[in-house]
Amino acid sequence: MTMKFNRRGFIKKGVIALIGAQLGYLFFDSFKKKGENEEDQHWYEVGPIGNLEANTIYPFQSGQFYLSVLEDGGILAFSVKCTHLGCVIQAQKDGFICPCHASSFNKYGEVMSPPATRALDTFDIKVRNGILFVDHQNAKKRSQFEKPQITYA
Ligand code: FES
Repeated sequence: MTMKFNRRGFIKKGVIALIGAQLGYLFFDSFKKKGENEEDQHWYEVGPIGNLEANTIYPFQSGQFYLSVLEDGGILAFSVKCTHLGCVIQAQKDGFICPCHASSFNKYGEVMSPPATRALDTFDIKVRNGILFVDHQNAKKRSQFEKPQITYA
């Protein structure tokens, strides 16, 4: 029995197999990306935690938050919004000041001078494989600073 090579049939089957593989990949990839995107949507990747210096405030304009790295390496992430009426606060050497009505906050986000009466809102922080992430879309209101709000690597 001889097998006759059918070039047209061979190409047709090859194209169908290729399309099937592409659709399979796209189907799988859409699930994978969806999961990753949901996580990435609210976790802002800051970068290697080892690059952060103690006693320093870092602004992250695109993420709308500040990182306050304390003298012992503890880290707090603050919303840029003043807790008085929501103006954008400005970082200073050891804290923050609001340009609208002059409220000021220390490096823990505590109110140092009114009219604001509430500490700055915070964001959760996580460290994965040495990379620091900030949950910059879920601000947490707080009335005052408490030590458990600090993240240590
Ligand atoms: S909005 Fe910041 S002090 Fe009023």
